[in-house]
Parts: sequence; structure tokens; C-alpha cells
Amino acid sequence: MRAAALTSFGPPDVLRTMEVPEPQAGPGQVRVRVRAAGVQPFDCRVRAGGFPPGRTFDMPVIPGNEFAGVVDQLGDGVDGVTTGTAVVGFSTLGSYAEHVVVGADQIAPKPDGMPWEVAGAFSGSAQGAHMAVEQMGIRPGDTVLVNGAAGALGTMAVQLARLRGAGTVIGTARPENHDHLRSLDVVPVTYGPGLADRIRAVAPGGVDAALGWEADGLRATLEVTADPDRVVSMVFSDEVAQLGIREWAGVRSTARLTEMLAFHEAGELQVHVRQAYPLDRAADAHRDVGSGHGRGKVVLVVAS
Ligand SMILES: NC(=O)c1ccc[n+]([C@@H]2O[C@H](COP(=O)([O-])OP(=O)(O)OC[C@H]3O[C@@H](n4cnc5c(N)ncnc54)[C@H](OP(=O)(O)O)[C@@H]3O)[C@@H](O)[C@H]2O)c1
Repeated sequence: MRAAALTSFGPPDVLRTMEVPEPQAGPGQVRVRVRAAGVQPFDCRVRAGGFPPGRTFDMPVIPGNEFAGVVDQLGDGVDGVTTGTAVVGFSTLGSYAEHVVVGADQIAPKPDGMPWEVAGAFSGSAQGAHMAVEQMGIRPGDTVLVNGAAGALGTMAVQLARLRGAGTVIGTARPENHDHLRSLDVVPVTYGPGLADRIRAVAPGGVDAALGWEADGLRATLEVTADPDRVVSMVFSDEVAQLGIREWAGVRSTARLTEMLAFHEAGELQVHVRQAYPLDRAADAHRDVGSGHGRGKVVLVVAS
């Protein structure tokens, strides 16, 4: 089968389309013929090497931790799933390929009206946002701050915060993305030096709960938040650890994914796909995500 894979770690160009053996579903697993696969910062770290720390990899490595496609093979002992079912799923690796094999508990039915590109780019960020918002302990009426709110995770987190009853939702972004945030009913604030003052200008009482990953933004966030335990970081560097805030935690699950899919199906959770690339442009997709800027999701179209 065709896959976008790497035989050595390095910059985006190490990611090339190549022929690799087709995987087979083992006991408790399903094989999915992939239609679309999201591209996440996690994948870029895998490609660059040394991530996750301590993990060993067999080459070639096929990145990709979220996908959508059609089940085409069942392993022994799999009940309740039939071949031909359109699904949204998650893995750690392996999604930038014509087929991916995952546990039967790593998929959920794709809603009929959900476009493939959206479905492929959904499960990682949607579940990441779900876990983050859970950790923030949002209560009705809370004022919530999401740093980097225009990105893949941020756009889902701001909407989910609202669905959990938040009152005011504030999001940081470059000025180019402020209109996008307003369209999501988010009060936009530009990140960078002076951030705490700009937040106070729109939330004189401070914020109740917050999400971020970049240390300067989190430091500013702590200036306007009473309870550091309700400030959650999606990335836990040594620098962030010193801030004494809450580490993002949780595990992906079909239940989490199904809840997020239901929000999407009900029209309560928008997903913005900013760019779809064909599989053989996976390196360009990595350059795009690796820029660290942009609205919403990047996706690889594997098959049509
Ligand atoms: N997606 C997940 O499921 C997941 C799970 C765990 C951890 N994470 C981590 O969470 C972080 C965000 O992930 P993502 O998928 O949302 O990435 P993304 O789509 O690349 O979005 C990153 C966002 O960060 C903003 N940004 C850039 N520089 C910033 C700064 N100095 N201060 C504040 N915001 C800044 C950008 O906004 P502008 O475009 O407006 O500049 C961009 O929208 C990554 O570090 C990722 O590894 C993600």
C-alpha cells in the first residue's frame, strides 16, 4: 500500500510517499481503508525525532494519529462492527497510509453528513479539547481564556467551553485571526507582550479557568487567574512545570470521541479545515502545521 513515511528522522522533506506492506487486523483489531488523515503537531515531533521520549521506532515510520475511512477487515473476536462501515478513529501512528489497523475500541461511526476531510481531522483535536476542558473544570457562567484559540485544538476548546456553560470565552490569536474567533463567539485578544493587561481590559474580574501551552502566555494567564489549578497546559515542558499549573491529562476513548461527534452532528461544534493536501504532499502539510500558526486543521486526503 502507499503511505507517507520516513526512513530517518529530520525536517519535513524526510516524509515521502512509499510502498509499505499492507497491515493485517489481529485479534480485537479492525483495519480501515483511510480516506483522510489529520496532521497534528504531535506528528511533526515524531517526524523530527526523539518523541515521544523513550519510545523506539521501527523504520519506516508512518506518522498520523487521527483518521477517517471505511472498515475493510475485522480481526478475530471483533463484535459489533461490520466491514463497509464509515468510521472516525484514532491511533498513535500509522494514519498517513491507505490502510491503518487499530483496536476496535479506537473507532466510532462517522456521521453521514460529515465531510471526509473534516472527519479525518477530527478525532485527535476533538478529544484533546475534550480532555482539556474537563481538566479546566468549567462551571456555568465562568470566564474562560484559551491561548492560541484559532488553532486546531483552540477552536474546538473554545466551542466546547461554551457548550459546558462558560459565560465569556476569551481567545488569544494574531490579529488576522480575530474575525475567525468572533465568528465562534469568542472575544479575541492578541498574544505577546502586555497580554495580561489586554485580558484585564476585556475581563476586569479576571478569568476563572484557562488553557494554553506556551510559557509566556501561561505566565500572563496566571496574572489574571485566581486558581492556578484551573490553568491547564497541553504541553508540559520544564519551563511550564515551574509555573505550578495543572498538567493536561486523560485518555482518548470511543466515548469521548462519540460525544464530540454528536456535538458536530448537532451543529454545535464547527471544524475549520484550513488546508487539505494530497498524501504525496505530506511534507508540505508538515511545513504548514510546523509553522505554529493558522486557523483550524490541516488534513491529508489519502483516497477519494
Ligand atoms: N491537537 C491535540 O489534540 C493536542 C493534544 C495535546 C497537545 N497538543 C498541543 O497543543 C498545542 C496546540 O496544538 P494545535 O493542534 O492547536 O496546534 P496548531 O493548530 O498549530 O495551533 C497553534 C496555535 O497557536 C497559536 N500561537 C502561535 N504562537 C503563539 C503564541 N506565542 N502565543 C499564543 N498562541 C500562539 C497560533 O495562533 P495564530 O495563528 O493566531 O498565530 C495557532 O493558531 C501544540 O503544542 C500541541 O502539541 C495538542
